[in-house]
Amino acid sequence: MVESIKLSETSALALRFLQGQVYHSKAVEDYLSHLDLSAGQSLHEACNAIWPEYAEVIFNRKHMILHHINETLAKNPSMQIISGAAGLDPLGLEVTQRHKGLDIFEIDREQMSIKAELISNPRLHLIEGDLADASSIIDKLKRAGWQQHRPTFLIMEGISYYLTPDILKNFVTAIKPQYAIFDHLRESGMNEAANIIGSKVFNLIRDYIKMDKIQRYDASSLSKLLGMKISNNWSLCAMERHRTGNNIHFLSDDFGWLDVTAFEAI
Ligand SMILES: C[S@@+](CC[C@H](N)C(=O)[O-])C[C@H]1O[C@@H](n2cnc3c(N)ncnc32)[C@H](O)[C@@H]1O
Repeated sequence: MVESIKLSETSALALRFLQGQVYHSKAVEDYLSHLDLSAGQSLHEACNAIWPEYAEVIFNRKHMILHHINETLAKNPSMQIISGAAGLDPLGLEVTQRHKGLDIFEIDREQMSIKAELISNPRLHLIEGDLADASSIIDKLKRAGWQQHRPTFLIMEGISYYLTPDILKNFVTAIKPQYAIFDHLRESGMNEAANIIGSKVFNLIRDYIKMDKIQRYDASSLSKLLGMKISNNWSLCAMERHRTGNNIHFLSDDFGWLDVTAFEAI
């Protein structure tokens, strides 16, 4: 029996917001039951103090990404998935439950050994590595069974704001995915209230993890950087409508600081 595992503050944060929403498989429920998320409490409370509905951002982003993966896999069942900076997030585990026989390669520079203690699934390949070292990551992926010549869907959730544009571009160019999905902080198109909430939350996280700068992209600037074309772009308003059928918290496209954008190879 694996003991409950206490996480550091930032990795506990998104999982605290998740609250059993979005992912519903028994395997994910069992996995999450082993994680003690108390370390993220003060950061969680600080985000909620900035905007009490902050969990809605996480629900919307995670719902949209999972939905798009399921839709793309329905059309292309023979794909492989790479998730960059997956951390302890259960997305890969959830997808393996829905798509038997699919290989998912999750990469993170931390915590993959903790995840490996809790999850034993031959289709979920957990790789420890730094996305900044693209050639080493490619070697590790190949050793884990990734087939470079076959179509790949790349998930980059919760990471675009933390990597420099050069690191991001080099990593994506090395993988050459056929499809990719990102969440990203907007550069423009926010009304004042949205800009204040997004900036305050990400400045708080930036200071917590002692980063110099948070990176922001609009869908068009990210498309240019990656050399991929935009296939879909969702504002928080569009994500909420897609998830719940109406808009309660995000009443207009400009009340949104984080987008999810899907890309395809040119
Ligand atoms: C906010 S978490 C996102 C986790 C998950 N993708 C999600 O959306 O919930 C950011 C993750 O990025 C990882 N990370 C940051 N920089 C990295 C790098 N250069 N290489 C690999 N992982 C990195 C951290 O270890 C952390 O697990």
